Amino acid sequence: MLLKLVLLICISLSFVVQSKTVRETKHGPRPFPEGFLFGTSTASYQVEGGWNAEGKSENIWDYLTHNNPCIVRDCSNGDIANDSYNQYKRDVEMMRELGLDFYRFSLSWTRILPTSFPDKINEAGIQYYNNLIDEMLKYNIEPMVTLYHWDLPQKLQEMGGWTNPHVVDWFADYARIAFEHFGDRVKYWITMNEPREVCYQGYGAATMAPAISISGFAEYLCAKNLLVAHAKAYHIYDKEFRQKYGGVVGISISAGWIEPETEKDTQAAFESSQFEWGQYAHPIFSETGDFPPVMKERIAAKSAKQGFFRSRLPEFTPEEVELVRGSSDFFGLNHYSTNIVYRDETAEDYNAGPSYYDDIGTTGYQPEDWPTAASPWLKKVPWGFYKLLTAIRTQYNNPNVIITENGYSTSVGDGYEDNDRVEYYKDYLDAMLDAIDEGSNVTAYTAWSLMDNFEWMAGYTELFGLYEVDYNSPQRTRTPRKSAFVYKEIIRSRQLDYHYEPDTTVMTIDEGH
Ligand code: BGC
Repeated sequence: MLLKLVLLICISLSFVVQSKTVRETKHGPRPFPEGFLFGTSTASYQVEGGWNAEGKSENIWDYLTHNNPCIVRDCSNGDIANDSYNQYKRDVEMMRELGLDFYRFSLSWTRILPTSFPDKINEAGIQYYNNLIDEMLKYNIEPMVTLYHWDLPQKLQEMGGWTNPHVVDWFADYARIAFEHFGDRVKYWITMNEPREVCYQGYGAATMAPAISISGFAEYLCAKNLLVAHAKAYHIYDKEFRQKYGGVVGISISAGWIEPETEKDTQAAFESSQFEWGQYAHPIFSETGDFPPVMKERIAAKSAKQGFFRSRLPEFTPEEVELVRGSSDFFGLNHYSTNIVYRDETAEDYNAGPSYYDDIGTTGYQPEDWPTAASPWLKKVPWGFYKLLTAIRTQYNNPNVIITENGYSTSVGDGYEDNDRVEYYKDYLDAMLDAIDEGSNVTAYTAWSLMDNFEWMAGYTELFGLYEVDYNSPQRTRTPRKSAFVYKEIIRSRQLDYHYEPDTTVMTIDEGH
């Protein structure tokens, strides 16, 4: 008991020290660097609807939600979602209201290629994205396009999806079609959204489509194939399109900050981070490439001990290491929260068979008194953002970082006065500015999300929008929350001012938008 108390005091003291690394005063106007860009983000399955409209075929989220509806908390799906397939003009109007520099959205693979392959291009799908892109460009809003935000064609899943090495060519073909059709107007490309969630949650933990649970194997096959697929798409752009169109291509990696529980857990926390996001960042952004050494060592040692003839972690060939290394023009970072981690010997000696977390050998948690969003995993820890940006700067030679997602969820019925979200945005932007002051090369920030949307397994119960969406109205009416007004002012003034209080009575479009 006494020991526990001492430990608790030590932890609390260490937080006091940690949070001192981020300024604590709620200050007046603090400018963003010259040329810094602001956007918001969404994803195809989460907002488009039109799940079978005009030639679109089934993807893994259509399939999962249609065949196992109540795997989603409110038994909902994205069949209609925000109906952006029909309401895209209103979406662009909201971008103009906010004064966005860019808007990040994703393409639906099966809307463009209903057979999954380039043998049949769905003109209606191409037209939809042309309409959206052209409407944005009309108002000088730059499109930032994600090729893959989790909606794999179901047919490809039936052939193993991301665990089948042929997915590299399937994805590369799809990427080429997208570059060909939209590359004249789209200058920012993101190949993949959040490889960890695609691979670990999709194939290891079964908490995302295709909801497969073969931990310790499948997520590693997925990781390798996904990274090579990403790199192949990158090189296609580089060789065939870059000169003509002059755009950039990157990847969005989800990374939380992983804080050691005590000083003796520093190595454990580092190792955990090497699995959780180093797995995807190291092969691309480190000087040597390949999976992080600690990951290769731990999985090989565990596999040998468990009686396997080879490591459960597949190897990259030397050519693949080179293909993947450096295959990103920027580090797209999706960041939401922080976890505390300690070395867990029980996890290390776990006998129930191989698993991803057994391979890592650590346990993580979040203290209950950290402010929590509607999503239970999302606690507000701005100093974690600062530390993460610092780690990316030092570990990968200060890459150009684009924050491609950051945001906070509220619950149904919480209304328009979303002060918690407002505070989250301010504190995280402030922490980001601290890192920038110390040299981090962060050049753009994207709020997740422009509007409420289908929050995967949480359905419509966790809402991330700057705009609220009324799911009972046929038009899916969108209404700005207070956070929309605050974000608008940040963008207009290019400053973060803690004291700013918006007039939320009417949203307007400013001149020039
Ligand atoms: C994903 C989004 C998701 C958001 C909030 C990210 O992991 O890219 O699709 O809605 O976080 O959970």
